Amino acid sequence: MSEFNRRLLQYLADNRSRFEDLLGSMVEVPSVSMDPERVKDVRRMAELGAQILKDFGAEAQVIETGGHPLVSGGWTTGAKHPTVTIYNHLDVQPAQEPEWKQDPFAFLKDDGIYHGRGTTDDKGPALTALLAAKFAIDQGLPLNIRFLWELEEEIGSPHFAKTLRNRDAIPKPDSVVISDTIWISNDQPAIAVGLRGLLAVRCSLVTGSKDAHSGVTGGAARNPLVELAEVVAACVDAKSGRVKIPGFYRDVLPFSATERKSFLRSGFDVPRFMKAYGFQSLRTKNAAEVMERIWAKPTFEVHGLTGGYQGPGVKTVVPWKGELKASMRLVPNQRPEKVFELFTRHVAKVNPSVKVECDGMLHPFKGWSTGPYVEAIQQAIRAGFGKDPAFTREGGSIGAVVSMEKAWKVPILFLGLSLPEHGYHAPNERFDWRQASGGMKAFATYFAELARMGRLG
Ligand code: BES
Ligand code: MN
Ligand code: MN
Repeated sequence: MSEFNRRLLQYLADNRSRFEDLLGSMVEVPSVSMDPERVKDVRRMAELGAQILKDFGAEAQVIETGGHPLVSGGWTTGAKHPTVTIYNHLDVQPAQEPEWKQDPFAFLKDDGIYHGRGTTDDKGPALTALLAAKFAIDQGLPLNIRFLWELEEEIGSPHFAKTLRNRDAIPKPDSVVISDTIWISNDQPAIAVGLRGLLAVRCSLVTGSKDAHSGVTGGAARNPLVELAEVVAACVDAKSGRVKIPGFYRDVLPFSATERKSFLRSGFDVPRFMKAYGFQSLRTKNAAEVMERIWAKPTFEVHGLTGGYQGPGVKTVVPWKGELKASMRLVPNQRPEKVFELFTRHVAKVNPSVKVECDGMLHPFKGWSTGPYVEAIQQAIRAGFGKDPAFTREGGSIGAVVSMEKAWKVPILFLGLSLPEHGYHAPNERFDWRQASGGMKAFATYFAELARMGRLG
């Protein structure tokens, strides 16, 4: 074993409780970016993040964005050394699900498993990368390491692109590494070479001014929920999931034979997928088709169709208004601006009374699958977990990725540490020491590789 690896193992043993204490302090700040009542907590999270960086001996600042702030910081070791920026987000999803077995914002540590909202998405991975970076810096690696911790990722990064223009506070790196993606299963690491984009929409329909008796008015009264249901049915086929908006699939990039092969080799397993997410059945049981559907095909989903009576029993009213919240996951080379136009035009044709609003756009991302950075990531994952990663695409979206690519035009790599059963956005979210310690080894190895590669191009 090399001296570097021997020191690394010692470092992991020495720093486990520090990692756990810090993760606990982060999870206990309910940094729910979506919730207007948590604005102060989100800021407190940014301040805690900056303080943690400073306590590790890095420079750090909280940067205003116009929305929730973000944290930028790092170590500068020399102008000739390459610079890597590690991106993570410290905001989290709401945690009101009744299935929580604990207070989601009370960190619980149980035999190497860490419970609480944000443990895996994305505070645990953020802290994992930080501890590895501290080790790398202490070893004297010729590498500048920067951190960019966003607090608006879970709301679509509305101020991120603009904030990146502040080059003094957020200098352009030579490459970016992101730890905010998931493995295929708990024994199959994955490197993401693409992310889906997103177009979120709200459709509302008002047909009156108050609920009316459905016996007295029904038949003549227009029902906004029925009309919105018609809009849904005109947009997506319920059984196949096929999107019916004219022109929707026009720009979809078919994935290559190489990609298909690497999907098939990824070890993706349908029963495990169903178990991890608690599904009773799926639209298809064919593994290749499931992978294609969740990674490489666009979708139309309804998140909420609301209005009318929701209390106990059935109240016989015709509601006077309704709202539909929906989103479309987009894949390379679809453009959300164009899809929004297609959607608006289609809805206007189906029902001109429906008001359509955009609630956020994220461009899909196509990343690197070859080259020295990818090889370095592969090597890092092997060193951390003793297993070769599979190349996949991710079905989820990270708004900041495309903004960084546009602003900096540098390679962006993914070193994800979350597992399907960790429960992104789900009740009883968790992270674990196996992923954290393997992740620290992987990150430390990646940093050593970057230092060895020097400044490319
Ligand atoms: N970490 C996820 C993105 C992700 C999900 C990557 C699954 C790989 C696999 C991120 O925190 C997230 O949840 N993004 C949101 C963005 C949205 C709220 C604008 C998403 O994908 O829904
Ligand atoms: Mn995330
Ligand atoms: Mn998330």
